[in-house]
Amino acid sequence: MTLQIIILAAGQGTRMCSATPKVLHPLGGTPLLQHVIRTARQLDPGRITVVYGHGGEQVKEVLAGEGVEWVLQDEQLGTGHAVDQAMPSVRDEDTVLVLYGDVPLIQAKTLAVLVEKARAGSLAVLTAKLNDPQGYGRMLRDDKGRLIGIVEQKDASAAQLLIHEINSGFLAAPAGLLRGWLQRLDNRNAQGEHYLTDVIAMAASDGVEVESVSASDAHEILGVNDRIQLAQLERIWQRRQAERLMRGGVTLADPARLEVRGEVSAGRDCSIDINVVLEGKVSLGERVSIGPGCVLKNVTVGDDAELYAHCVIEDSVVGKHCLVGPFARIRPETQLAEQVRVGNFVEIKKSTIAKGSKINHLSYIGDTHMGSGVNIGAGTIVCNYDGACKHLTEIGDNVFVGSDTQLVAPVRVGDGATIGAGSTITRDVPENELTLSRSKQQTITGWTRPSKDKT
Ligand code: UD1
Ligand code: CA
Repeated sequence: MTLQIIILAAGQGTRMCSATPKVLHPLGGTPLLQHVIRTARQLDPGRITVVYGHGGEQVKEVLAGEGVEWVLQDEQLGTGHAVDQAMPSVRDEDTVLVLYGDVPLIQAKTLAVLVEKARAGSLAVLTAKLNDPQGYGRMLRDDKGRLIGIVEQKDASAAQLLIHEINSGFLAAPAGLLRGWLQRLDNRNAQGEHYLTDVIAMAASDGVEVESVSASDAHEILGVNDRIQLAQLERIWQRRQAERLMRGGVTLADPARLEVRGEVSAGRDCSIDINVVLEGKVSLGERVSIGPGCVLKNVTVGDDAELYAHCVIEDSVVGKHCLVGPFARIRPETQLAEQVRVGNFVEIKKSTIAKGSKINHLSYIGDTHMGSGVNIGAGTIVCNYDGACKHLTEIGDNVFVGSDTQLVAPVRVGDGATIGAGSTITRDVPENELTLSRSKQQTITGWTRPSKDKT
């Protein structure tokens, strides 16, 4: 029995007031639909089919790499009609699970319970008891408490509107039975739609057991209809990430002031201060400390590294025991080996810095290979760009560069070289020598400043 997962995503999402399809709006940096696809994949299905709507080409493009099947529902004739679009590639012996592209917090463990019941021959529906059931379909039960149907808000009687047990929309069923029920759906209801929910009454009258399952976490069934709900779900998702990190041994100064916009892994005893944003793939070793206001995107940080306040680091590797910041900017393709020190107002781009080198103050290092044990003085600039092309700078081991030096690339500095402060280096520097380019200092004795009252 193969599991066939059908994700409904054909809705227009009008209330988002957006040129972007609703299911592409990000939650924790990832499109809503991608969350649902990832969760679906955890259930190891034979196939995941996304039912997308008119104008949804963009959705297909963005998520092209997800390895799902796409089925167009040209006209939105209802949730039952939408599921039916995906049925031709489903076999009767399969089990079908229906998910929603705009309900992203659903968890695999909850869905697994639905699937298990459907595999045993039942129709399984995920329900919840809400204080405010407004807008949801209501679960109808007979006097023995058995589920016998779902009535939509718009079709419900005054008495039915008082029911607090609601339909989340998620359901699982044996495919052959579901196919038969879908074929019998009609649209004689308040919205003129083919309601997926009508299969519950059909199952009950066919003598198929209808089972309700409740979500392990009340947030799981929340959907996104507008940007207010999107923001609410974002907070819930962020809280989950913060708790996952804390359970794994990370100290967070304030779980409400960490933003995870991607996939973060962290070793034990890391500590993260407030207002930190972690984007893309961020991997922290053990005992990494991140100061307030840091932004890291696609970064790997080694054990015991310390990032002080307000560092911005992107597509780079920070080695073990490095000390970075405050106010350092590390741009893509930079690799800091172990024990590198990068201080305030230093920008590094596309460079490798070997073990123990120090760039402590107000520098720009770009397109550079730097050896180990180098000391770069304050205000040193690598002039890597001639207005047309970028050029390489190579600095050997144990080099000392005096403050306010410009290294005009392409240029090489030999091992052990010392460069005097204030130099403009345009030619290669030999190893183990002192090199400087500096005009001689002179004093004009007896010189007086010009003044206005002199005639
Ligand atoms: C549906 C359920 C309702 C449940 C509620 C939970 C039905 C008839 N009703 O109502 O019992 O309480 O969800 O949120 O199923 N969609 C399509 N194609 C369509 C219609 C809908 O893909 O033709 C998709 C939408 O994009 C959306 C989902 O199905 O993701 C639900 O559709 P929506 O119109 O929001 O259903 P509700 O009225 O909320
Ligand atoms: Ca809805």
